[in-house]
Amino acid sequence: MNTRYRIALIPGDGIGTEVLPPARAVLDAVGRRHGLSFGYDTFDWSCARYRAEGAMMPDDGLDRIRHHDAVLLGAVGWPGVPDHVSLWGLLIPIRRQFRQYVNLRPIKVLDGVPSPLAGATGDVDFVVVRENVEGEYSEIGGRLNRGFPDEMAVQEAVFTRPGVERVLDYAFTTARRRGGDLVSATKSNGIVHTMPFWDELVREAAGRFPEVAWRQEHIDALVAKVVLDPARFDVIVGSNLFGDILSDLAAAVAGSIGLAPAANLNPERAYPSMFEPVHGSAPDIAGQGTANPLGAIWSASMMLDHLGHPEAAAEVFDAFTSVLAMTGVRTRDLGGTASTEDFTRLILEAVTGSQ
Ligand code: NAI
Ligand code: MG
Repeated sequence: MNTRYRIALIPGDGIGTEVLPPARAVLDAVGRRHGLSFGYDTFDWSCARYRAEGAMMPDDGLDRIRHHDAVLLGAVGWPGVPDHVSLWGLLIPIRRQFRQYVNLRPIKVLDGVPSPLAGATGDVDFVVVRENVEGEYSEIGGRLNRGFPDEMAVQEAVFTRPGVERVLDYAFTTARRRGGDLVSATKSNGIVHTMPFWDELVREAAGRFPEVAWRQEHIDALVAKVVLDPARFDVIVGSNLFGDILSDLAAAVAGSIGLAPAANLNPERAYPSMFEPVHGSAPDIAGQGTANPLGAIWSASMMLDHLGHPEAAAEVFDAFTSVLAMTGVRTRDLGGTASTEDFTRLILEAVTGSQ
């Protein structure tokens, strides 16, 4: 039996357009082995489009992808277009309108990819669960008295009970499935309204998951511990801002931003979820054919998992981890000389050769 999925591809800018074709090739190859086929619709939503047409995506953009099974995105952002324009014109509307309230980022130190931290070895294996649609990244606030000496800006952080509860439930469920523990990132010693509320809801959630060991740590101390002893973590849950910072830090701990994947999930599956490498458009290397495609390929593997094909997802993961472990072939960000294409070919061989 053949299962068919419709995937919305948004390559975006810079190396986003270079890493999605490899991800797509890997999906097609693994799909053939598992009776899955993928139909792709490609959308040119990007900073290039913004410059030509004045918007990152068309007015009815979200309606055009609402009924796809998933969205696979490369990267958006380009010099000359302010980053808040590209972010709020494309990524944030997709995350919010499709209620992708979980941003999930696995962090693993892989064999053959040295971490910049001397002490970080293969024991490093955790996930950051970031609240993805509210919190500190809100549109509520404003500016007053622009240009006067008493110029000011106010930005409100918004924490709702359902918004916090649902992401905590996802994080505790993940910790239970992994058989691990959970750390909540907080700052209730300094931020005296929203963070104590977050802490209360964490305690309540812990009551619903009595089998999961948990603790909370202030974000400043927590980031230091992630650097000093990353192997001790299993699931870290944080607000939008804390989760954003933690997950980029953690990606760096794992060796290269070029490897790191992310999923923006609507766990209820009422809307498509979106999968994207953590890295940006890398204008400094764009167009050279040297980008590391692994962040995108790993994201595609997360997509397979979300679509209900964990064996296919694991095959993709095993294929690229075995290429890293058994060969010295690397893209430039990992100290090698392989092109995106050469490196992708090896992964495709590993996918089709695996049994
Ligand atoms: P970046 O991730 O694009 O690049 C940071 C550094 O890492 C660069 O030296 C780059 O060459 C390298 N790098 C990143 N991914 C790589 C890969 N796959 N292979 C090899 N090297 C890689 O971050 P940067 O420079 O801060 O941002 C560039 C643009 O991308 C900005 O416009 C930014 O707003 C946007 N951006 C978009 C994101 C997204 O679409 N989710 C996330 C982060 C940044
Ligand atoms: Mg970030």
